[in-house]
Amino acid sequence: MDVSSRPKLFDFHGVAMIPIFTANWENVQNFQARPDDILIATYPKAGTTWVSQILDLLYFGKTSPERLTSLPIYERVPFLEMSIPNLLSGKDQADKLPTTPRLIKTHFPVQFVPKSFWEQNCRMIYVARNAKDNMVSYYHFDCMNNVQPAAGDWNSFFQRFMEGDMVFGSWYDHVTNWWKKTQTHSNIHYMFYEDMIEDTGREIEKLCSFIGLTPSAEEKEMIRTGVQFDNMKKNKMANYSTLPVMDFKVSPFMRKGKVGDWKNYFTVAQNEEFDADYKRKMKDPALHFRCEL
Ligand code: PPS
Repeated sequence: MDVSSRPKLFDFHGVAMIPIFTANWENVQNFQARPDDILIATYPKAGTTWVSQILDLLYFGKTSPERLTSLPIYERVPFLEMSIPNLLSGKDQADKLPTTPRLIKTHFPVQFVPKSFWEQNCRMIYVARNAKDNMVSYYHFDCMNNVQPAAGDWNSFFQRFMEGDMVFGSWYDHVTNWWKKTQTHSNIHYMFYEDMIEDTGREIEKLCSFIGLTPSAEEKEMIRTGVQFDNMKKNKMANYSTLPVMDFKVSPFMRKGKVGDWKNYFTVAQNEEFDADYKRKMKDPALHFRCEL
């Protein structure tokens, strides 16, 4: 791994970021959302791709199934703030999306969401994942993704995660501030990765009532099966294997897809340190995460 070519974090309006997510800031902030746009928002590694694939299937699985077999997920669901000057702009991709609704991905903390999404009262789907598994997944991602900062060793990554020194900032602030926003904004559906693992069908059902779709029982069952971890891992249009910046020899994008994998990485001492720090940071008892099922 050539660590020297990896980007460095810098402070951007109080959040740790890297240039590929800030270079297009003005244009992204001026993005013109439409009332039927759907924003899929997550802290990185919380289940974005899973929910994106479910939504794409729900909306377009019947009417344009060829989309799902010919276009990778990152083209079907553009990543709004991603930009590489003269090469790629998630904002331009979103502008050009031919679908209705447009499904748009973001990892922005809530205060960075472009104002037109609020003005248009767009539906937003936020997926949150327990911090311990989220951290482990993020660690492997930073090891294998050459456009992310170098992960470093596990111990230093562990500390940096607790300090919020990660791309898109602090997990604690991200999940908490999006959660708070649900109290004043009714068009946010806040979901948990652990609930999806526990009962994917039930969570698809809840998603359907949020977006107002009524697929047949047969369709729902096809979607539930299609998005099972093993099936998505095999699916070239969903598993990111077509993206050259990721080194699957280091770690695949679809890595484990489990609740509780953190137990294979956290030492007993780290777990104690983590829990004590977590208690200090996460005060709202209503926002409850499950680290095991
Ligand atoms: S990203 O890069 O932020 O968009 O990544 P994201 O898609 O949010 O998160 C990747 C993790 O989600 C797991 N995943 C799944 N788990 C269960 N079932 C399905 N279908 C599924 N699809 C993706 C993926 O494996 C990553 O988690 P880890 O723990 O690393 O396996």
